[in-house]
Amino acid sequence: MSWRDYWNQDTPIYSGERHKLLHYRGVADDIASLIRSSGAHVLDYGCGEALFADRVAQRCAHLYLCDGAPLVRERLLARFGGETRISVLAPEDLGRIPAGSLDLVVVNSLLQYLSLQDLRALLPAFRGRLAPGGRLVLADVIPPDVSPVTDARALLGFAWRGGFLLSALAGLARTAVSDYRRIRDEIGLAQYTEDDLRDILGDAGFAVERLPRNLGHNAARMTFEARPVPGPTEP
Ligand SMILES: C[S@@+](CC[C@H](N)C(=O)[O-])C[C@H]1O[C@@H](n2cnc3c(N)ncnc32)[C@H](O)[C@@H]1O
Repeated sequence: MSWRDYWNQDTPIYSGERHKLLHYRGVADDIASLIRSSGAHVLDYGCGEALFADRVAQRCAHLYLCDGAPLVRERLLARFGGETRISVLAPEDLGRIPAGSLDLVVVNSLLQYLSLQDLRALLPAFRGRLAPGGRLVLADVIPPDVSPVTDARALLGFAWRGGFLLSALAGLARTAVSDYRRIRDEIGLAQYTEDDLRDILGDAGFAVERLPRNLGHNAARMTFEARPVPGPTEP
């Protein structure tokens, strides 16, 4: 099973409804805080169920939700199909977004599930869709020194503050014996140093800045903001 297949099902990653709601609400608010103008066109790539995408859509002109899992896209369509400011796309449909039209592309908590080759292949697609001055935000990137124990500690802090500590403890136990653990042991999670990401993004024609705070609850992970550097023949 690949990571992309893994996400096409209900997973034990969220320990319960409260965890899932607080997670997606926090991510939506963090994405909304990155939007600079109500006229912005925004892509949330690898968006998951994006339960609070309507909050993000309220802050911009159009929000594209793109996810690789057909089950996730079905749920997004059931929830947001009636919202004229939201479109749901498969990765194969990225070409339907007009070139040079996006002000912001956010990729939160996805890089760990992509091979380096897949990441390198995606970056030109994002670059081609960004408007002049547009930004690509890669968030929740796991540095090599962040272990599952650090992640578990961050989750328990989030759960304590959010009032779902017992269910989080049970969820961690379920995850430890789940497909997630098995695939993580087999395929692994991609982890990057700050320099790795600067090089990868630089190779794809982006100038990079690390943001002081990660998106979401895990302060041990990293967020980068990248802007296309115009090539010699570009305006
Ligand atoms: C850990 S979840 C993150 C969801 C959301 N961004 C968040 O922060 O909660 C990863 C999501 O990426 C999707 N995904 C996995 N591989 C993908 C790919 N190659 N292209 C697009 N989406 C992918 C999965 O279906 C899953 O919904």
